[in-house]
Order: sequence, then structure tokens, then C-alpha cells
Amino acid sequence: MQAVFEQRIRMPQLRSRVVDATEAAQWVKDGMTIGMSGFTRAGDAKAVPLAVAEKALHEKLKITLITGASLGGDIDKKLTEAGALSRRIPFQSDPVLRAAINRGEVMYVDHHLSETVEFLRASQLAPVDVAIIEAVAITEDGGIVPSTSVGNSASFAILASRVIVEINLSQSPELEGLHDIFIPGRRPHRSPIPICEVDDRVGTSMIPIPPEKIVAIVFTDKPDSPSNILPADEETAAIAGHLVTFFEREVRQGRLTRSLLPLQAGIGTIANAVLAGLADSPFQNLTMYSEVLQDSTFDLFDAGKLDFASGSSITLSPEKGREVFSNIGRYKDRLVLRPQEMSNHPEVIRRLGIIALNTALEADVYGNVNSTHLFGTHMMNGIGGSGDFARNAYLSIFATKSLAKNGAISSIVPMASHVDHNEHDVDILVTEVGLADLRGLAPREKAQTVVRNCVPEPYRQLLLDYLAEANRRGGHTPHLLEEALAWHIRYRETGSMLPDGLPELAAA
Ligand code: COA
Repeated sequence: MQAVFEQRIRMPQLRSRVVDATEAAQWVKDGMTIGMSGFTRAGDAKAVPLAVAEKALHEKLKITLITGASLGGDIDKKLTEAGALSRRIPFQSDPVLRAAINRGEVMYVDHHLSETVEFLRASQLAPVDVAIIEAVAITEDGGIVPSTSVGNSASFAILASRVIVEINLSQSPELEGLHDIFIPGRRPHRSPIPICEVDDRVGTSMIPIPPEKIVAIVFTDKPDSPSNILPADEETAAIAGHLVTFFEREVRQGRLTRSLLPLQAGIGTIANAVLAGLADSPFQNLTMYSEVLQDSTFDLFDAGKLDFASGSSITLSPEKGREVFSNIGRYKDRLVLRPQEMSNHPEVIRRLGIIALNTALEADVYGNVNSTHLFGTHMMNGIGGSGDFARNAYLSIFATKSLAKNGAISSIVPMASHVDHNEHDVDILVTEVGLADLRGLAPREKAQTVVRNCVPEPYRQLLLDYLAEANRRGGHTPHLLEEALAWHIRYRETGSMLPDGLPELAAA
């Protein structure tokens, strides 16, 4: 144990700072801003956050919590139940926290994931008082070696007054060397970001901070929460099929090569299924410049299709996690984990020419996409990195199943009830029905393309009727304003977007 202890804290002067989670949590005080590691359930601090939740059950403690993205281990849930969260930034996906946000009890600031630390660095957000960062080790110089995610950890540790490090013994020490920590200079005299290829390494392998800022070190051995994506189904497989056919056409027409361009795939089942679909495609020597690396990344490595993957976190299913992390050496020279402002940096995304694939909750006939709000009002998760990629990609693709709730909801509606990605940022819309290529089209053309390619009956005819009437009224982007959100209102009132008299799809 002594050997492990010394390997994991290689700077001898820091070894006396080891405490338990309850003692470390005493550094967190009412009114503070806390920056915690964690990105899509990977690499989150696991012991101290729960000790903070416990502390909040016994004393007045309300914090602003900033992370990389969503957390695992029920941390958001426990902090919410303890009433510890006054403000939460920049992404979450926990049902208990989501409900508190939608009741207006927690103020949720839904950021583009590349931007949070820019705001912090420029003092446009309250400064981070305490950073709580999961690590696999502390180096001889006091540098922090992150675990399965980098997220915002580096900037939190650099900007915070105090740092608590959680060394997680369940995370392989072999993760050291995987990370590339590069922090851009201050604006307005910032130099170009020097990432010119997906596999460029431009920073350090650890987070360099003055060791005196480390006020507590806690040991844990709790594994990351596995991803909760579902296996591919008929519809996600059909979406993947449409995209493979589309890419093949782009190759035939000389716009892409068989290596495509660096791929970004958003969170969730659909993006994972589409990427997995590339394993059986004719494409080869693929690369990824993405945010979260999911199971499909490693399936593509194993299928010999993928040459290199750059991300900010690795979030895997339990089986895949066991397989990958016990053999991380096999993949290490083909992987890099970067701070999320680098994995999602608009400048790099534009330079590399990324094919971005993200998921919509709903889209409207003109290609405006809602990825965050149910019925225009209720937060689901957040915009995440989808906006960073969609706005700057070579090709911005949004995928969704055409129907939700057994057909009572059409994912393609006359007017989106909330817009995260406007029509200018959406090149391709794809459902299991088909694919709409919106490049170079004007709104009236986009609407016909979306409805005829992506929408099943009976919603297709309803939308064609809507558009016919709207076009008669005129406009560049024609609408019947009094009917534009009628489908959402009808669902609220009757439990279905279908008007009376039309058969429920569910019953079919
Ligand atoms: N209206 C209302 N509810 C809808 C809906 C719609 N148009 N479309 C889907 N839903 C419901 C589903 O029925 C499901 O409900 P349930 O949880 O009660 O079963 C839920 O929303 C999730 O739908 P699903 O199709 O399973 O979505 P998903 O898991 O593929 O996630 C997003 C889709 C958009 C929520 C998710 O991708 C997301 O949060 N994206 C934003 C962040 C992002 O893109 N990050 C990646 C950047 S790298």
C-alpha cells in the first residue's frame, strides 16, 4: 500500500495532505463557487461531492456548481436532494436535478461547453473558490494527472484559490500520458490554437499548478458510472444506414474521400449507433475529433476502421469499460483527451473540417433544431457541445427518430418550440424515414425536402397541408402563426399531436 501511495502522490511534501472526504468537504462553504471534474459521467470526483451533500443536510450550504458536463454516481441527485445547489453550470442529465431546475429551484445556466472557462477566465462568472478534481496521480512537481475525462478540470484547478484532489485507485495509472493539457492565452492577443491535425499534442500530460494550492488529497476506489445508452434498434440502424448511403454519395461525387473527415458524434444512443454503423461500411482510416468517446469509438478501433480519436472523456458501457480499461495500453497511442474548450474549440473545428453528428429532440420543417426543451419550456439536459460543433462544422448533421411516445409526438413540427440550432447551422436532417440534404436550399425548398424525406404519414400530409396554406399567405419562411405551435398545444390538451379523427399511430 505504501508503494501505491508513493506512486500515486509522487511529490513527497504533499503526502501529509491526505484526509478523508468529510474533512476535505470542510473547505466548501456556503455561497462558494465550486468547480468539479466530471464529463458525461467520466472522471468525476466521487467522494468529496457526496460529503458536501451530506454536510448540506446539517448546515446551511448553497453552492454554485460548475462541472465539465454531466456527473455520474448520483452526485447531482444527492446535492439536489440536500438542497445544496443554488446554481448549476454548464450541463446536467440527472432526473432529480432536472425536476428541480424545471420547478425553478435551481438556476441552471446552459452553456456551450467550450465557453464556460472562457467566461471564468475573463471574470464574467464568479471565480472558482474550490476545485475538486479526480486524478490518477500527482506528479513529482505537484501536477495533477486527470483520469477518464479532462473537461474543465485544468482551468478549474488553475483558476481556483484551493484545490482538492481525489486520487481514484480504481482508475488505471496507465491513463497517465493520455491527456494533452493546453490552455489558450488571454484575449485579445491570443495566438492561434496550434492543433492542426486530430492527433497533434500541443500541451502537457498533467495539469500544472502550484502545489501549495492543493489543500487536501482524498483516496477513493469507486469506478466511473457506466454510460446508459441503449443498444441500437431498428430505427437507429435505419438512421445509420441513411447516413452511410449519404457519405457514399459524397465520396462518389468527390466531396469526401473514403476516410471522410474527422468525425464528431454527440451523446446518446443514436450517435453511438450511427458511428457503430460505420464498422460495416466501406470507409477506412477514419479519425474522430469529438467530445465524448463512447463504445462505438472502440468498436471502430477493433474493426480496424479508426486510426485516431481525440476527445475530452471516455464514457463506456460496463462490458466495454472492463474490456477497454484493462487493455488501455492497446489503444493509448491512438487516443488523446483534451480540455473541453480544445475538443470543442470553434477555431479547431472549422480548421479540421469536422463532420458533426448531433441529436435533436425536435426539428421544424425549416431545419431549426431543438435539442434541449420539451414543449418549449422544460429543460431536458442542455445544449452541451452540440452548438460548438454544429455552428463550425464542415457538415452539420442532426438525427432524431421521427416519432416519440408511440407516435403521439411528431419530432418534425411546423415550428420548433425552442431553437438551439437555427436553420443556418443545420446541413443535414435525418430520421429513420430518410435524409434531407438542406445545403444550398432556401427555406421553402428546405421545408418540402424535410417533410418529404423525414416524416412518416399521417404527419407528412398534415405538414404538406400546413405548408401549402402558409405558402399561399407568403413570406420567405412562410408560417401560419396561429397554428405554428398548435401541435404542441394539442398534445398538452389531448395527449397526442394528431387532430381528432386521425387514427393514433400507436393503435396501428
Ligand atoms: N417532444 C417531447 N419529448 C420527446 C421528443 C419530442 N419531440 N423527442 C423525444 N422525446 C422524449 C423521448 O420520448 C424520451 O422520453 P423518456 O425519457 O420519457 O423515454 C426522451 O425525450 C429522450 O428521447 P430519446 O429519443 O431517447 O433521446 P436521446 O437519448 O437520443 O437524447 C437528446 C436526445 C437531444 C435529449 C440528447 O442527445 C441531448 O441531450 N442532446 C443535447 C446535448 C448534445 O447534443 N450533446 C452532444 C454534443 S457533443
